[in-house]
Amino acid sequence: MRIKDFKLERFFAKYEFSAPYLLSSSDCESFTVAELLALEENAEEQFKNLRLGYTEAQGNPELRDEISKLYDNVKPEEVLVFSGAEEGIFIFMNVLLEPGDHIIVQCPAYQSLYAVAEAIGCRVTTWEMKPENWWRPDLGLLKKSICENKNTKAIILNSPHNPTGFQFSGEEFDAIVEIAKANGLYVFSDEVYRFLEYDPRDRLPAAADLYEKGLSLGVMSKTFGLPGLRIGWIAAKDRKLLRRLAAFKDFTTICNSAPSEFLAALALRHREILIERNLEIVRKNLELLDAFFEKHTGLFEWIRPGAGPIAFPELRPDIDVEEFCVDLAEKNGVLLLPGTMYDIGGRQFRIGFGRKNMPEALKEFEKYIEKNL
Ligand SMILES: Cc1ncc(COP(=O)(O)O)c(C=O)c1O
Repeated sequence: MRIKDFKLERFFAKYEFSAPYLLSSSDCESFTVAELLALEENAEEQFKNLRLGYTEAQGNPELRDEISKLYDNVKPEEVLVFSGAEEGIFIFMNVLLEPGDHIIVQCPAYQSLYAVAEAIGCRVTTWEMKPENWWRPDLGLLKKSICENKNTKAIILNSPHNPTGFQFSGEEFDAIVEIAKANGLYVFSDEVYRFLEYDPRDRLPAAADLYEKGLSLGVMSKTFGLPGLRIGWIAAKDRKLLRRLAAFKDFTTICNSAPSEFLAALALRHREILIERNLEIVRKNLELLDAFFEKHTGLFEWIRPGAGPIAFPELRPDIDVEEFCVDLAEKNGVLLLPGTMYDIGGRQFRIGFGRKNMPEALKEFEKYIEKNL
């Protein structure tokens, strides 16, 4: 398989570990190993005595048990654990899709959600989200694309959305699932930002709970702030498909890291604590962003996100957004992500607000714009 470079990851690789102010991260504030081990009395002792052999390929049973509790109606046997969400996307696409198949992807999108399918030789229709519609994609266009492409196999969704922070309403999400059901399509639902709804009433049902061909992609990286664990999963009712995904995993990572599985299970047993802490950071930082964009309304167009730790505002001045972000990183050490990394035109950039030091990063950003814009 020949696959194009992952633009966003290549951009981050250049600056992420040198820029002092990360203002575009999509993950929330992290936790230390010591903080996690302090969540339970015997955890430290158990962790020290953990054997570092191969682990169960489907994922540690205790971990799958905890993951299944994130859903209404998913059993531990209906969960397959991966090395990050990224491996789940890669394997799902490779197992489900054949060259010539058609899929529909809500776009702009995290690149692997369409690039893996393209590399396999599929035709990808982008289900466009536009700023003039507050990023809300048009259900009519989804239906039209399915009608016009009889070989459509799957709809790829992501809500809360990277990079816009758009969140479907419950009615819209149900309607999409009904369209998929009527046409026998898989729904691959990237739910890695689930549980970061500012208002819990905005939480969507999980695709795996709604539909036998629905797959829910989850991860420890974003809401739980634990990307270094590299633990993600797919929850699905379609056990035959899950077995095929597990068989493909024998060629990628075989099984997951034992220390990561232990820490992920521990974290999920105390998920309310982790979610609450990160949601509080996100809510406070979002208020700061509202005030910041209100103050600089002449420079930026602000579309307030509906959920999650990222948003996708637009620069008003007619300047190249990539040059703007590079200049900002080089002069003031503040990292924003230009929208060009998502293969779209326009002058949007991604701003992330799940980190504790976001207020300082925002101040440094303000210094830059006051001097340079
Ligand atoms: C929408 C979306 N899906 C999947 C991933 C991949 O997650 P991970 O890096 O934890 O594998 C990301 C990471 O940024 C993402 O934003």
